Order: sequence, then C-alpha cells, then structure tokens
Amino acid sequence: MQEYTPAPNILKQRIILVTGAGDGIGAATAKTFARYGATVILLGRTIRKLEAVYDAIEQSGAPQPAIYPMNLEGASPKDYSDLAETVDREFGRLDGLLHNAAILGTLTPLEMYDLELWTKVMQVNLNAPYLLTRACLPLLKKSDDASVVFTSSAVGHKGRAYWGAYGISKAAAENMMQTLADELEQNTPIRVNSIDPGAVRTRMRARAYPGEDPNINPAPDEIMNRYLYLMGADSKGETGKSFKAQEKN
Ligand SMILES: NC(=O)c1ccc[n+]([C@@H]2O[C@H](COP(=O)([O-])OP(=O)(O)OC[C@H]3O[C@@H](n4cnc5c(N)ncnc54)[C@H](OP(=O)(O)O)[C@@H]3O)[C@@H](O)[C@H]2O)c1
Repeated sequence: MQEYTPAPNILKQRIILVTGAGDGIGAATAKTFARYGATVILLGRTIRKLEAVYDAIEQSGAPQPAIYPMNLEGASPKDYSDLAETVDREFGRLDGLLHNAAILGTLTPLEMYDLELWTKVMQVNLNAPYLLTRACLPLLKKSDDASVVFTSSAVGHKGRAYWGAYGISKAAAENMMQTLADELEQNTPIRVNSIDPGAVRTRMRARAYPGEDPNINPAPDEIMNRYLYLMGADSKGETGKSFKAQEKN
C-alpha cells in the first residue's frame, strides 16, 4: 500500500466502537476517529480514563461520543447482548469495531505460567473479541460498509519464548480474524482485518520492556494513519489481511 492520506471527513457519519478506549493506542484511536468525523463509543473498564477521553473529544468540537463502561475480564454473554441492544437503540447500527483492549499477563516460561492469569489473558484478549463480535454482528450487518479490526502483535505471528498467554491469544485472534473474514466475504459487505501497531510508547510497552528508553518508540498519535485507512471507506474490499501500522505493506 502506498502512503495514505485520509480525507478530513473520512469517518463522517460513522459509528465506531473502540475497546480499551481509555488509555494508550485505544485513547488515541478514539480521539483520531472522532477528529475525522466519527461518533465513537468508548468501551473500557476505568471510567475516569474514559471520561478524560470523552471530555477531550467534546472540547475539540468533534461529534459527541458515548461511554460504555465494561470490564471484559468478567463480562458474560448477557452483558454483550445488553451492549448490542443499547447500541441498536441509540444508533441503530455499527460501522466500525476496533478490538484494541488487551492485557500482557506475565513474561514467563509456559511450564510455569500461572493458570489463573492464563485464563484472564485468554478472556480479555481472545474470548472478549469473539463475544463482542458475535453480539455486534447484527448491528454490523445493518451498516452498508462495516469494518472490524483486530489488534495483533509480532509475537502473535511467530511464537516467542516467555510471551506465553499473550502471544498465543494474539495468534488465535489473528486466526479468528481470518475465519470471520472468510465467512463474511460471500454474503455481507463486512470487512475484517488485523493491525499490528508495532512498538508504541504506552503503559503496556513499558511493562513488557521496563529497561527500554520509552522515547525510542512513537507515541500512539503518531501511528494512526493505517487505523484511519482500515476504518474508512478507502479500505472497502480489503478483508482477511494483516496490516502493520508502522510499515508500508
Ligand atoms: N504498545 C505496544 O507496543 C503494542 C505492540 C503490539 C501490540 N499492541 C496491542 O495494542 C493494543 C493496545 O495496547 P496499548 O499498548 O495501548 O496498551 P495499554 O496502554 O495497556 O492499554 C490497554 C487498554 O485496554 C484496556 N483494558 C485492559 N483490560 C481490560 C478489561 N478487562 N476490560 C476493558 N478494558 C480493558 C485498558 O484499560 P485500563 O486503562 O482501564 O487498564 C487500556 O485502556 C493491545 O491489543 C496490545 O496488545 C501494543
């Protein structure tokens, strides 16, 4: 793909749900999507952080966002259907779904991985995107141009020692993206892709690489280009593909 320049109103009139919208890459995507015209539904677990993103969007003059507090670790299938019902009632459809929320778990050999933590990582990074996509499919089908984006990682493309549940959850989510893309390609206009943000200056990165100088990595705001491409109409027809936010591909 050539370097992409999004039109200023590329996301106008689009309703986009972002998970993990209170911090890091999720907060940056939510603000960026709003700046390009989208009405953003901010889903996350820490209300204070969601409110800060909400306020920033509102003060910028972008379309008024919505906050949907939800802890993906403990959410039940009923919680997901309640969410879909609320979005249907308020907006009537969904044009974009960014699965961004994730937890790192711990870096340790598989042989010693704490089983409770393993389950938590799988719940947030893999089961939650599945349950959320499943619940939102009827809403995505009501859009004439819907885009679902999963967030991948280098360790999800090739297993790496000690990355444990995180890498394995990301590899499985990548397969879910491909499966879903294949299933939806024939009968719906819904496209499904993944994006690997690369190394980005966030809380998660600092936890994974505590000795690294954070300034060697870009801030989330600096890697938004490919996210805009995938959420906007310019990516129509692209489905089942893995994108990298920091490389031309
Ligand atoms: N940063 C990188 O270098 C990098 C590299 C490759 C891939 N990624 C991927 O990029 C995505 C964003 O990562 P990030 O670096 O921005 O991480 P981050 O700064 O840790 O942000 C993660 C977000 O997910 C939310 N979240 C975590 N657990 C949740 C739960 N149980 N329920 C609801 N929300 C939850 C967090 O909420 P709280 O703020 O309330 O905790 C936070 O808003 C992730 O999918 C990550 O795997 C990041």
